[in-house]
Amino acid sequence: SGYFTFDPGFMATGSCESAITFIDGAKGVLLHRGYPIEELARDADYLEVCHMLLHGEAPNAEEYKEFKATITRHTMVHEQINMFFHGFRNDAHPMAMLCGTVGALSSFYHSDLDVSNPEQRVRSAHRLIAKMPTLVAMCYKYNVGQPFVYPRNDLSYAENFLNMMFSVPAEDYKISPAVARAMDRIFTLHADHEQNASTSTVRLAGSSGANPYACIAAGVASLWGPAHGGANEACLNMLEEIGSVDRIPEFIERAKDKNDPFRLMGFGHRVYKNHDPRATVMRESCHEVLNELEVKDPLLEVAMELERIALEDPYFKEKKLFPNVDFYSGIVLKAIGIPTNMFTCIFALSRTVGWISHWHEMLSQPGQKIGRPRQLYTGETERKYNPIEK
Ligand code: CMC
Repeated sequence: SGYFTFDPGFMATGSCESAITFIDGAKGVLLHRGYPIEELARDADYLEVCHMLLHGEAPNAEEYKEFKATITRHTMVHEQINMFFHGFRNDAHPMAMLCGTVGALSSFYHSDLDVSNPEQRVRSAHRLIAKMPTLVAMCYKYNVGQPFVYPRNDLSYAENFLNMMFSVPAEDYKISPAVARAMDRIFTLHADHEQNASTSTVRLAGSSGANPYACIAAGVASLWGPAHGGANEACLNMLEEIGSVDRIPEFIERAKDKNDPFRLMGFGHRVYKNHDPRATVMRESCHEVLNELEVKDPLLEVAMELERIALEDPYFKEKKLFPNVDFYSGIVLKAIGIPTNMFTCIFALSRTVGWISHWHEMLSQPGQKIGRPRQLYTGETERKYNPIEK
């Protein structure tokens, strides 16, 4: 009954009020709590960004210290989580394991199931920010058949993650400051992006009062697709498939061909129709990291030439398709030594703070309703049912 707006893909539907992130897609502006992403990527660390997204303000020195101590207190996962991993095949996609194990956290923190208590919600947010690196690193270790590495709370957030990924028994990983900085910046650049598909999924799941771990598992599932978080993995696979600069025109032509499902991965965005400010920072970061690590990656040459040709092509110009954040992030992750099938897990780790901040904000708003879109029914009109025996 009543009227509703038909808007498949939510091209023009605002679903909520939010004070967390502002995007002006026409101007290429992205602000978290009012702070420009370029400044945050340059001058803040990821935990500061987490604090502002979740608590509304950039922390002062004292608040930062306290927040860091709170997060590090929660970095371990229950020993029984190990057993969940052992139920997976060794070659399971890390995102498959992440979906399952994040959801499984629901069975460990009974007090967090009551989502009506704001303090409890913040506690579960802290737990999730703290435990995601541990779970993501466990997905990797299980894949490669190495023992899990416990978190080290003397390290920074990014350093601890790298240590859990790359240390092996009796040989601690030597963390280069350049790599830790690049990792931290990737976390920051993916921390939040207002009502994207996975965040909207988390909000919709949470609107029924579902617990935070179940909601984040829903977010991880939504992120996995190649049109969203899976794009960084798909982009690197694409650059590898192109392989050399002389093959770029062939792929550009395929991307323009409406009879070919191929798209240039890492290009285009629903909201940015000018440039993706995250991509600009990521591009600089990519050059910096490759220089500092003295990595010569031929894929960077392919990426730069592909970007140049696409930006001059009338098809991409007319459709306002620019490189997005994931066009360059894969090259940085590869230089750090992270395998391609882990890229989307790293996006999920980074975005957890965004998801949980939106979930907390939604549940803090008075008069919050369950999300329940309408549909345009296209099936049969009423007809008579004939029992099967007739
Ligand atoms: N290569 C070739 N053509 C494209 C591309 C592309 N990457 N992206 C969009 N188009 C064309 C599309 O075919 C369509 O053409 P037409 O109007 O003739 O039908 C037009 O541009 C508009 O595309 P759309 O799919 O209707 O736009 P959308 O807003 O629904 O989709 C998108 C946005 C990001 C899903 C899409 O641009 C895409 O598939 N890009 C590649 C995947 C990718 O890089 N995703 C990561 C997004 S950034 C990270 C994140 O936030 O998750």
